[in-house]
Amino acid sequence: MTLKSRIIGCGLYVPERVLTNEDLEGMVDTSDEWITTRTGIKERRIVSGERAVELATGAARMALKEAGLKPKDVELVVVGTVTPDNIFPSTACLVQAELGMKSGIPAFDVAAACSGFLYALDVADRYIKTGAVKTALVIGVDVFSRIIDWKDRATCVLFGDGAGAVVLRQTRGKSGILSSHIHSDGRYWEMLYTPGALNESPFEKKSPHKPFLKMKGNETFRMAVKTMGEAIKEAMKKNRLSPKNIALVIPHQANIRIINAIKDRLGMDTARVFSNIERYGNTSSASIPIALYEALHSGRIKRGDVILLVAFGGGFTWGATVLRW
Ligand code: UT7
Repeated sequence: MTLKSRIIGCGLYVPERVLTNEDLEGMVDTSDEWITTRTGIKERRIVSGERAVELATGAARMALKEAGLKPKDVELVVVGTVTPDNIFPSTACLVQAELGMKSGIPAFDVAAACSGFLYALDVADRYIKTGAVKTALVIGVDVFSRIIDWKDRATCVLFGDGAGAVVLRQTRGKSGILSSHIHSDGRYWEMLYTPGALNESPFEKKSPHKPFLKMKGNETFRMAVKTMGEAIKEAMKKNRLSPKNIALVIPHQANIRIINAIKDRLGMDTARVFSNIERYGNTSSASIPIALYEALHSGRIKRGDVILLVAFGGGFTWGATVLRW
């Protein structure tokens, strides 16, 4: 049997502070009714001082505990994030230091916005499949509250902060990642991006840009449905699956209408398409691992189930992962 990677532990960490739609009504010209019907979001978690590395280590600790492993057992750390605490060092290096992992292991970040976790998972899976490492920690963490213009109602109602993590272990068994498919098309970068927050050097003209997330919502919505639909088809074809063979789809949580469009395309019922967007909003890279943790711990995933993860984000980036639990 060929080498595969299997998820042996999951974790999540979200800030305690809850920001509800009613709270937002007092901040911008919006309503609970608009946010709920257009996005499915009711509340989101927002940091009040916590750093991204604290969220990431919180999720990692939980995943390691569930895996029954110690930080010293980890041989690779890959973090999907576009909102690190520092430009460098990477969040992965900070997590390595914070948790007291072995010196010398590879630890790095992957930037693919809301597809970040699936990109990080893809990279770690390839390290494991080629036999380079046996145990990897994969984290998705984002703190979008730091790149949001809290005066822009078109974007500030959509996002939340959080982290999710998984521990991957090499296996020759039947369970594990069956295939992973990641894609990007940089021609669409201006549809969803955040200008840099770097200081001006004395040799440059002043930049007119503020470091706030910008999104063309309608175009992004259409591309999210299209590309996630294509990624699902590709992943099903690769594994000779039809929707009836998939126990649960865990899509990136950006908008309940996007999730419903995917569900309708697949002809699947609500019970087999996971959503927790109501409580967290769009947590970018953290959205899939948080959802995976909650799906698992609410009994929605059983041993032997085929699970499909699918994501879409700025870049544009998108991808899908199929795994047997
Ligand atoms: O995770 C990465 C990927 N992200 C996504 O996939 C997000 C994709 N996009 C979306 O989810 C949706 O496009 C949004 C939720 C961002 C917007 O929903 P929409 O149904 O496309 O609304 P819209 O942008 O077409 O705006 C409709 C109306 C506009 O008013 P007018 O021009 O019709 O008078 C907006 O100004 O809704 C208005 N509006 C709001 N009203 C109340 C926009 N934001 C708000 C708001 N509250 N927060």
